[in-house]
Amino acid sequence: MCGIIGYVGQRQAAPILLNGLRKLEYRGYDSSGIGVIDSKRGSIIVRKMPGKIAKLAALIERQPVGAARIGISHTRWATHGVPNKVNAHPHWDQSKKILVVHNGIIENYESIKKFLQSEGVRFISETDTEVVAQLIGFYYRGDFVSAVQKALVRLQGTFALGILCQDATETLITARIGSPLIIGVGEGEYFIASDVPAILEETRHIIYLKDGEMAVMKPDGIEVMTFKGKPLAPKVDTVKFNVDAVKKQGFPHYMLKEIHEQPSVLETMIKSRIKGNRVELEGVSLTDHQLKKLRNIVIVACGTAYHAGMIGRYLIERVAGLPVSVDAASEFRYRDPILNSQTLVVAISQSGETADTLAAVREAHKKGARVISICNVVGSSLARESDGVLYTHAGPEIGVASTKAYVAQITMLYFLALKLGSFTGKVPLAERKRIISALKHMPRLYEDILRHKTAIAKIAKKNSHFGCFLFLGRNINYPSALEGALKLKEISYIPAEGYAAGEMKHGPIALIDEYRAVVCMAPQSETYDKMISNMQEIRARKGKIIAIATEGDLSIRKHAHHVIYVPKTHHLLTPLAVALPFQLFAYYVAVQLGCDVDQPRNLAKSVTVE
Ligand code: M6R
Repeated sequence: MCGIIGYVGQRQAAPILLNGLRKLEYRGYDSSGIGVIDSKRGSIIVRKMPGKIAKLAALIERQPVGAARIGISHTRWATHGVPNKVNAHPHWDQSKKILVVHNGIIENYESIKKFLQSEGVRFISETDTEVVAQLIGFYYRGDFVSAVQKALVRLQGTFALGILCQDATETLITARIGSPLIIGVGEGEYFIASDVPAILEETRHIIYLKDGEMAVMKPDGIEVMTFKGKPLAPKVDTVKFNVDAVKKQGFPHYMLKEIHEQPSVLETMIKSRIKGNRVELEGVSLTDHQLKKLRNIVIVACGTAYHAGMIGRYLIERVAGLPVSVDAASEFRYRDPILNSQTLVVAISQSGETADTLAAVREAHKKGARVISICNVVGSSLARESDGVLYTHAGPEIGVASTKAYVAQITMLYFLALKLGSFTGKVPLAERKRIISALKHMPRLYEDILRHKTAIAKIAKKNSHFGCFLFLGRNINYPSALEGALKLKEISYIPAEGYAAGEMKHGPIALIDEYRAVVCMAPQSETYDKMISNMQEIRARKGKIIAIATEGDLSIRKHAHHVIYVPKTHHLLTPLAVALPFQLFAYYVAVQLGCDVDQPRNLAKSVTVE
């Protein structure tokens, strides 16, 4: 979704802004823009472009913006209005004194627009953001900060803003509610950004602005305050972050790099959370006594994280015997869920900034439930709003298609299930030990699959011409089918549906013919024979079958046209075993089709609007 970078200091702003925008590219966008104040000329200079940042950079090359030392910039993911130059940010007020970049949605923009129009203000774009610039401009009578404050208290919705005023040539203002924004603190300079990696090359000193806070930055200092002007003491955190982690490190795509990082993500998580046969849930914030008193679990998440949550339901019910429901976070608050103080809500999110997941957490709190999150980004909004956080520490995930975060989320759910299971005693200790031992072996299993990735690449290449894919799975691998289909469709744009294999005869079988391919999750498990029956039914209708099966299962070759083998593991761990092959399969199909793997069309890495 939209990304913001801003700068005020002693250096030339434009290169810093462009560099920061490039780091935000992964979030997804369709136009970009930059605005600086040229203090010598006393004017604001704006450059905007639909399309990739390279086009904006080329425009700035042709039409330089000078040596300005203050500026704001933006990548826009269109919500209100098509992605064109006029709708791209930054936006002016009509006096051309106020300049704004925005991430989020101003929900009451229509009523504010009507009011401003009735006062003679003329709008030029279709965006909700222009309303913010015009409203500040409307209130501006020479006091920049006060005009911003008057406007902020009238805005409803979610927003992170970067604001400049032509008359205040050394002042950068930012404010936020609900949308991500951080402040970087340098020597005599400040940065604003939508996420930490975007400004890591510049500083590691970060202020995490909270909802309802604004900051006024000048080269010689910063003031943080509420929208009504009440001064606040900013806390500066120093982030530990490996800058190399946000580089491709020789891989052609971030997605492939992140797929390859999975063995070490697993290794690190297992080492830090499993001590002998005991699971440590540091961060969960609930005492053992409180955990023992839980009566049910509700998992909320979106997209890939939702699929991880669905696997979590199987795990927790099987291993801990507690009832679990899983909700798409976007639906959660609309169904008036029944929660109480003995309900644990588990919110799962890689970014920790997904608007729907945050809204679900707020709903859960309102209803008196405790909330813990499984989150990757340290210090994210979700982490801050949860009662406890289980960080996955998988490192930054840049590819839009989630891979290592998914595997890390599932792994954390094993830990949670085992911990809760140790209290409920649903499965005997010996079985829990077997699961732990299989988990400990998982990094080796992943390395093994990665060693054979060229075989998966070949199968992907041979099948990339199919116009439609069905992914089937049963039981704990039903969510694997959903996730396999999501991975393929989001990066290759091939229509792909995930289904519970038992549901095939209730509809999707109508799709099967020689032009469709079906990926079957068929590792050894209690539902293996049933999956074989499904495969026979597909074959009888000439569908092409790609099976993901357990090493040594030679008989499956009779049923499938292609088999991707994974090493044997405990049946409850098969969702981890099949994840890597279907990620690689999707990756190689997308590469074969020449798709933009890391930044698929229309998608955003972090969905910060509802
Ligand atoms: O940051 P989150 O985990 O909350 O994001 C949730 C989804 O937007 C995300 O998983 C999305 O579905 C990915 N593009 C899937 O690869």
